[in-house]
Order: sequence, then C-alpha cells, then structure tokens
Amino acid sequence: MKRVNSVDLTRREFVKTSAAAVAVGALTTRTLAHAGGSDRIKIGLIGCGGRGTGAAVQALRADPGVVLWSMGDVFKDRLDTAYQNVRGIIASLSQEEGEGSTLWHDRVNAPEDRRFVGFDAYKQVIDSGVDVVLLTSYPCFRPREIAYAVERGKHAFVEKPLAVDGPGLRSVLASADEAKRRNLGLLVGFCWRYNAGMRACFDQVNGGALGRVTTVHTTYHTNTLPRRPRQEGWSDLEFQMRNWWHFTWISGDHIVEQAVHSVDRTAWAMGDLPPERVTCLGGRAARSGPEHGNVFDHFAAVYEYRDGRRAFHTCRQIDRCPGDNTDYVYGTEGSATVNGWAPTYVIKGLDGEERWRYRDPIKDMYQVEHDELFASIRAGKPINDCSRGANSTLMAIMARMAAYTGQTVTWEQALDSKERLMPETLEWGDLPTPPVAVPGQTKLI
Ligand SMILES: NC(=O)c1ccc[n+]([C@@H]2O[C@H](COP(=O)([O-])OP(=O)(O)OC[C@H]3O[C@@H](n4cnc5c(N)ncnc54)[C@H](O)[C@@H]3O)[C@@H](O)[C@H]2O)c1
Repeated sequence: MKRVNSVDLTRREFVKTSAAAVAVGALTTRTLAHAGGSDRIKIGLIGCGGRGTGAAVQALRADPGVVLWSMGDVFKDRLDTAYQNVRGIIASLSQEEGEGSTLWHDRVNAPEDRRFVGFDAYKQVIDSGVDVVLLTSYPCFRPREIAYAVERGKHAFVEKPLAVDGPGLRSVLASADEAKRRNLGLLVGFCWRYNAGMRACFDQVNGGALGRVTTVHTTYHTNTLPRRPRQEGWSDLEFQMRNWWHFTWISGDHIVEQAVHSVDRTAWAMGDLPPERVTCLGGRAARSGPEHGNVFDHFAAVYEYRDGRRAFHTCRQIDRCPGDNTDYVYGTEGSATVNGWAPTYVIKGLDGEERWRYRDPIKDMYQVEHDELFASIRAGKPINDCSRGANSTLMAIMARMAAYTGQTVTWEQALDSKERLMPETLEWGDLPTPPVAVPGQTKLI
C-alpha cells in the first residue's frame, strides 16, 4: 500500500533533536553560517492576516538576529494593517521588556519597496533576499508557496493545512523530500505538537501508559467563522477570497482548515500511522446566504486502520450548540482526556481513578514553534516535520472527499486524486460559487 513518507522523526527522536538544537544554539552563540556569516536572519511574511501577524512577532521574539525584511499579501489593505500592527506590537513589547529588550523597532525593516501586493507577491518576497519565509496565506496557495521557497533554498514556517486536495498534497510531499535533501527547515504550524502539556500527555500515550491504544475520538465542535457581506466593487473572486473559510477551493472546508488540528491529534494518538480508509457523514444544516459559500457545517469521520482498529473524529461549526475540543483516547489499560481549549491533560486507569495529570507551566505553543525553528536553523539542523504534517492534512482531505461523495475513500484514492479545487487562472472577475456537494451524487475524482 502506498503511504505518505512516514513521519520524518519518531516522536522521541524529534524531542531529542529539538532539545539538542536548543542546546547547541545556545552554545554556538549566534554563529550563522547559512546567512553568509551575518548574525542576521532576514524573514519574509507571505499572507499578512491574523496568523501572519502573530507569526512575524513570534519569529522576531524567537531570536534577536531576526529582522522582518519583506512582506506580501494579495490585498493591500491587509498588508498595510499587518505592517502597522507588527510595528505597534513590537514597540509595545519592547517598552514592556524595558532596557534589556532586544525588540528594537528597526528589526521591522520592510520598507515600501519590499512590501508586495498581488498573486505573485509570494515570489517577490521569496526573491527579496530573505533566509526564512513565514507562509500564512490561504491553504489553497500553500503547495506552490512551499515549492517555490524550497526551490529558492529558503527555510519556512508553514501554517496548517498544507493543501486542500490530492494534487496539492503530492506537491507538498515532493517539496518536503527536496527540503530534507537540501537541509532546509519546514516547520508546520500544527501548534499542539509544540505544546508542553500535549507533548507530555501524548508521550505517555505513545509510551504505553494506556496499554495498547484501541481507539480515539477527537472533537472540534465550535461556532461558525466570520462572514463579510459583499462590498461595492468586489468581484466574485474578491468576495470569495474575503470569505475564504466558506469556500472549499480556498480553505478545503472546515474539517481541513480548522478541525485538522484534531485530526492531527487523532494521528498522534494512533502513532502517526496512516489509516487505510475513511467513511464520513457530513452536511450543511445551518448555513445560508452567499457568504457561506459551499462548505458543509458538520462532519463525522470513521477511520479504519490496517490492524482493524477504528478512530473517530467529529467536527461542527454551528452557532448556539455546545462546544468541545477534546481527544478521548482509549487503551487496554486506561484512557486519556486531552483538552485543546483548557490545559487539561489527564490519564485514568480502567477503574476511573486518575493516574497522571500534567501540572507544569505551559509556554505559548506558537512561540515555542518559532523558538525551536530558529534554534534549529542556527544549529544547522533545521526542523522539517512537513511529511508528518502532510499525513495529517491528507487524513482531513480524505474525510471531506468521503463526506462530499458519500463513498468510502482509501488512502491511495485521496493521495492519487486528480481533483484540483483551485480555478485554473485567478483573475479579479466573475467566478460562480461551486455547488454544494451532495453525497451519492458528487463524484469521487
Ligand atoms: N495554527 C493555528 O492555530 C492557526 C490559527 C489561525 C489560522 N491558522 C492558519 O493560518 C492561515 C491564515 O489564517 P488567518 O486566520 O491568518 O487568515 P487571515 O484571513 O486573517 O489572513 C490570511 C492572509 O493571507 C492573505 N492571502 C491570501 N491569499 C494570498 C496569496 N495568494 N498571496 C499572498 N497573500 C494571500 C489574505 O489576504 C490575508 O491577509 C490559514 O491556513 C489558517 O488555517 C492557523
């Protein structure tokens, strides 16, 4: 059976490598061979929204040599806002930190001629003389951004999900391999993998604290995401891009865009083994109006593994329903409850008695991602967890394909799928909203 290249590093090796990277980074005190002997690491931000702004600040805080060198977005208003926001946040953090702060305002050094707008902005940022790029635009663009960054020899922080369809996923896998060959970092924003409480808990789970894991049920039950009413002068394409969460070709639908965090933790609990197939129920019960595009609002996936085990994932984006973001992991000797929204990581025996609970402080996982990425680059051992991220992204894509078509979808079918969701050419003009999928009628391609 064809499988996505297995996890780059086993969980234990990964933790060891990260710890070593941090230690070596401290010892070598800022030797930076990769940037031409300079102590500076120039970063470029591609996709200047909420997450991009946060990632830029985290990168600047991760290492005193980091300079925000260039920025790119498809919309000028988003770019301008992010530029002002990053400067403002850095100024106030530096004030908060006082005399010893390394967050000088000149570390945000992206003048107008290094701020790019449009669909080619990603290439301009990557070619602007940067060492590292932060890829935080919409999911449908991630494969081509990763490919170009790797082709140009850049390290990257890459937000999840990594793709929205099979062709995109295959491109990401090829880039992940090429990055490995060229010793480039590709750290994927599956942020819970960088959360100390989750790491400790999943280390317990994978280390046998529950005996043999028999099944897991993960949930991502939440409200719907924002909707932006159409403004005078917006083309169809702009309207869809401004409401990107609700268009499958851009976001991949919410099981791929948002709940993929929980799908990733399903994979984590199952030892990062790819499932053989998935059956998934889904539909659209409470979405109306053009801003809601063509996405579903609920999914319920059943993953089947080669050894006969099953894993379950449910997600919902419907207002006025109870929320939940928990992983319920069951084993032959106990269970684990891992909550994504509250720092609650607990293991119980079969008798229901608590056996283990994570109690230590937890550093902001988004900051940890950047701390570890930049330390690993400094150490010459850049973290590349892109194949593992691709594995989890494919699990979510295959569930969406199963829900849309009503068919059971195998790993190979999803990986080999010919379905390309993004329009062939992107021009600011007419673009009809694709139809909402109907299980039993929508074809598996
Ligand atoms: N790890 C997490 O917890 C987390 C949290 C939020 C978002 N995310 C992910 O981060 C990504 C961005 O989400 P967000 O909330 O910041 O969205 P956002 O809409 O706030 O920002 C995305 C930005 O990318 C820009 N953009 C879109 N296409 C582009 C292109 N082709 N070239 C350049 N710029 C482009 C948009 O104009 C926008 O400014 C998504 O993949 C999302 O799933 C991850």
